[in-house]
Amino acid sequence: MQKPWEGRFKEKTEKLLERFTQSVSFDKRLALQDIKQSLAHVKALGKAGVISKEEEEVLKLGLLKVKEDIQEGRMEFLEELEDVHMNIERALIEKVGDVGGKVHTARSRNDQVVTDEKLFLKEEIGKLQRDLKELRIALVRLAEKTLDVLIPSYTHLQRAQPIRLAHYFLAYREAFLMDSLRFANAYRFVDSLPLGSGASAGVDFPIDRFYVAEELGFRAVIRNSLYATAERDFILDVLYACAVCGMHLSRLSEDLIIWSSEEFGFVSLPDRLCTGSSIMPQKKNPDGLELIRGKTGRLYGNLISLLTTLKGLPYAYNRDLQEDKEPLFDSLDTLKNSVAVMTLVLEGLQIKEERTLSCAGGFALATDLANYLVLKGLPFRQAHKVVGSLVGYLLEKGKRLEEVSLEELKEFSELFDEDALKLLDPKVCADRRKTYGGTSKEQVLVQIENAKREEGML
Ligand code: ARG
Repeated sequence: MQKPWEGRFKEKTEKLLERFTQSVSFDKRLALQDIKQSLAHVKALGKAGVISKEEEEVLKLGLLKVKEDIQEGRMEFLEELEDVHMNIERALIEKVGDVGGKVHTARSRNDQVVTDEKLFLKEEIGKLQRDLKELRIALVRLAEKTLDVLIPSYTHLQRAQPIRLAHYFLAYREAFLMDSLRFANAYRFVDSLPLGSGASAGVDFPIDRFYVAEELGFRAVIRNSLYATAERDFILDVLYACAVCGMHLSRLSEDLIIWSSEEFGFVSLPDRLCTGSSIMPQKKNPDGLELIRGKTGRLYGNLISLLTTLKGLPYAYNRDLQEDKEPLFDSLDTLKNSVAVMTLVLEGLQIKEERTLSCAGGFALATDLANYLVLKGLPFRQAHKVVGSLVGYLLEKGKRLEEVSLEELKEFSELFDEDALKLLDPKVCADRRKTYGGTSKEQVLVQIENAKREEGML
């Protein structure tokens, strides 16, 4: 097979180098974007009078035939043709003859490849945004179901204060909403056209790049041809958004893994989303969640990998840039799968309310008792000390905070009255936190309402 660039070469390419430098094994994933781009490019060539109207038609029809071959799985991608771009050009020439070679007029693979990637990302980011929305909707539904379920919040993984479980799920919904904003931000950088930048300097044919941008649905046109072909910053932005979102999924996984342990016993995961052990008959392992957590490593790795590839590259196209694709594909696939598994887990999650309620009480109520004294006029620092001593006393006695009597309370401070005992209930404590964004029922209901409106669930 002849190579499109073989004119100046006297030797055949070494097989090892061919294999080493090829990208078609993975960039064939951009085939349909490459066709889409070429269709617009051919129109622009026709409009500029670089090719005749007849040639434009022939090339378009040829490209559509190649597209059909790709869609039907008939297209054969050859390693010796290096990448998806040269494979498609070869296929076009096979369909329409030598005139097919005109498709690459006023274009370099350097602006071609970035344009394909951007077209691809426009679709992929859209799909990911839809998946993230599904995940958030699952969280909002769970929040509605768990409005009256109390759990302790944990700081330093020690019981802190009672919160509504709904509040917890809404916290993650917030995190995944910010992830969507990060992807939307990345999309802004994706949404500008590199094509027409040529190899680096622009092209010497009168191509109307604004027309091409419109044809391909780009909001803007990249303003500097060198920048257009040298940068992969928009991919970094996507990889970063994937890494952060993966980190959120990983933290949520970690919580659910701990919560499903026998020691915590807060939730149980559906059997269909767990696996067993080959040796221990009693085991039901949360492998899906563990792998979401585990795969976050590669999301970070992919970001670092491309950052490292870019560092120190002379500012124009270098072949190193071909190394952008595998991390990108891997991060998108990994995140997509992780989001889907997490959505399933959340949809099937069973909550063990009695257990969470009993853990939400006890010393998790101590802050409220201190605040009771504050309302009676005692400075907070002193109130903290009084209740601290009370906790020490009860710990020694092996009693829960709810088991304390008024007489015992009075030994620690005369300010305690009968109504102090009413505070010793997780629900009461949670409902006292009425500040905007707090865990009281009314505030959590506001959050649910906002979330439902924002997700279009109303
Ligand atoms: N496969 C190449 C890449 O992914 C396409 C651009 C090749 N350009 C070149 N001048 N060799 O970057």
